[in-house]
Amino acid sequence: MLISGSFVVGSLMQSKYSPLQIAIHWLVFLLVVGAYCAMELRGFFPRSYRPYFNIVHVSCGILVLVLMVTRLLVRLKSPTPAIVPKPSTMLTGLAHLGHLVIYLLFIALPILGLLMMYNRGGPWIAFGIVMPYAPEANFDLVDTLKEYHELLANSGYFVIGLHAAAALAHHYYFKDNTLLRMMPKKRH
Ligand code: HEM
Ligand code: HEM
Repeated sequence: MLISGSFVVGSLMQSKYSPLQIAIHWLVFLLVVGAYCAMELRGFFPRSYRPYFNIVHVSCGILVLVLMVTRLLVRLKSPTPAIVPKPSTMLTGLAHLGHLVIYLLFIALPILGLLMMYNRGGPWIAFGIVMPYAPEANFDLVDTLKEYHELLANSGYFVIGLHAAAALAHHYYFKDNTLLRMMPKKRH
């Protein structure tokens, strides 16, 4: 009786994030890499290539915004799979705080970028489409937004580095299932 009861509870408890959450997590990862690479690598190419790098940058960035908001809504509605063996309460608290910081950072960063492009007051392109822009440019505001955008983008390197290191430490040092919960299902 006890065995069948724990079997039912065990099979009802999910051991991984949902396929949708896993897909969004790794897609956002690729898009963030795309947005950073477009900015960091543009200097190595002739200036005439600049518009293409900008289009890649803003298109990846806008998709990150849409997907981060989507995943936040999905996250609020779905239970988080348990980590086995269970980490300390302090570690769990720190992880939640870290995830909150990542959500806020990668939602605020693209919003600042969008506001920057809008207030430049001229046509700009994302996904091959001309995007809306302000009737008049406000370069003082653009300069301020740019400072904050750069500050958050630089913090992003640090935050994601820490997040990835924590995920790897869970896997290799604590030897729990934290990372496996975020890995796509293997095909048999
Ligand atoms: C995940 C999202 C994003 C990341 C990680 C990101 C990151 C960056 C980085 C690293 C830079 C270079 C900063 C520097 O020169 O030190 C930059 C610049 C910039 N980003 Fe983003 N960004 C994101 C989203 C966006 C979006 C959505 C837009 C606009 C729609 C945007 C517009 C810009 C602009 C206009 C610049 C300044 C480019 C210039 O030098 O003229 N970014 N961003
Ligand atoms: C741009 C890159 C990344 C972003 C924006 C990002 C974002 C996030 C966010 C917001 C969560 C919280 C999920 C939730 O709501 O419960 C999360 C969880 C997770 N991420 Fe990332 N992540 C990135 C890169 C990585 C990398 C490179 C790794 C692995 C080396 C990784 C491994 C994980 C794992 C294992 C979890 C589950 C953690 C847990 O539930 O305690 N992530 N990620």
